[in-house]
Amino acid sequence: MSNITFTSPIMKKDKTIYAVAGNTATILSLAKEHEIPIPFECGDGDCGSCLIEVTALGDKPLMGMSLTEKEKARLKELQMISAEELEQAEVNDIPPRFRLACQFIPRDEDVLVSFTGTPGGS
Ligand code: FES
Repeated sequence: MSNITFTSPIMKKDKTIYAVAGNTATILSLAKEHEIPIPFECGDGDCGSCLIEVTALGDKPLMGMSLTEKEKARLKELQMISAEELEQAEVNDIPPRFRLACQFIPRDEDVLVSFTGTPGGS
């Protein structure tokens, strides 16, 4: 099970949701389901409007997970992933700080998801 806390200057207060184990929903679908206003356009990793910052909460580290090629390409284009972060993601499976909400599927981890409310803002 994962606890996902959403925070943004455009939300009155932070909101934490619980994703059950085995859930394969992306952060964007969970946000939509719970009426959390993460901006998005394509929903498919093409536009970069759903940029979020992800940090680990509590003792559990962020889970390693391969980035999709689309996510890598968009993050590079937006200059939101450094060459070092990209290498860490590809070689050591260490996730970068910024992600695309429509591509990121949380696993058994507690995370803080921050977004500005501006498309492509983090
Ligand atoms: Fe377009 Fe996520 S909504 S990249």
